[in-house]
Amino acid sequence: MHLLAAFALFLDLGSALLVAFIPTLLWVLTSPSRVFRPRNISQFFMAKTWETFGDAIDERDRVDKDKLIAPNAYGVVLDLGAGNGHAIPYLDTKRVTKYVAVEPNALMHPKLRQTADKAGFTEANGSLLILGCGGEDINTILQALGGTHSIDTIVSVMALCSVPDPQKTARVLAQEALKPGGLFLFYEHVLSPRKDVQWWQRLWTPLWVRAFDGCCLDRPTHIWIDEIGGWSDKAVWGNADETEENLFLHRSGKFVKAA
Ligand SMILES: C[S@@+](CC[C@H](N)C(=O)[O-])C[C@H]1O[C@@H](n2cnc3c(N)ncnc32)[C@H](O)[C@@H]1O
Repeated sequence: MHLLAAFALFLDLGSALLVAFIPTLLWVLTSPSRVFRPRNISQFFMAKTWETFGDAIDERDRVDKDKLIAPNAYGVVLDLGAGNGHAIPYLDTKRVTKYVAVEPNALMHPKLRQTADKAGFTEANGSLLILGCGGEDINTILQALGGTHSIDTIVSVMALCSVPDPQKTARVLAQEALKPGGLFLFYEHVLSPRKDVQWWQRLWTPLWVRAFDGCCLDRPTHIWIDEIGGWSDKAVWGNADETEENLFLHRSGKFVKAA
């Protein structure tokens, strides 16, 4: 692997530090006890970074997300790790009846709610539900949804990279929250098929996890979702314009749960 490609992520880290380091430092200094809550510090840093770069990253991935989400998502949609709501503009409001956002970073909720409201999903008319828990908190999710098998479409855009136990979380959401016949749509950066790239992904992951609220570079998420089983149809595809040496190699997937 070329060293330039192996170290390319430091450009992203540098840009994030430029916009988020000082605000994060000031945030900690205004209440020094925050220093004992590293997860909250990482969430603040992540929220600041996504506030600045989220739109550009969405623009970069527009073609892939358009192909994946717009023609497929329907009914009650659960957006795992919804962030600022970047998946919302891809939803066809004639086909999507309710938008359920699972987003544990409460600092992202105001922007998320604003984006949802703009698309017509509101708490007032019952078409919006924002849950502040993690995707792994299945009991809270099922309770809020009023029981099992009430979701028509799960959307996960660069979220399973950050969930603490992604295999279990994806499996439980697919088996308990998703309706028979429902869709699991994902767009995730994943572990490379190349051993040399994997080596670098594993090297950088402990650093990346700390800066970006748990985000791992070395997860074969597309394979894990396949391994859940119980699918009647499935398709996984890559980005034509990504090189094999990309540390953030993406995979899109559309899995249909057996009816
Ligand atoms: C890279 S951002 C992607 C946000 C959004 N999906 C998008 O495409 O803009 C990852 C998101 O996963 C969220 N996240 C972190 N831990 C999570 C968990 N345990 N369950 C669900 N989401 C989580 C983060 O708060 C963050 O909003």
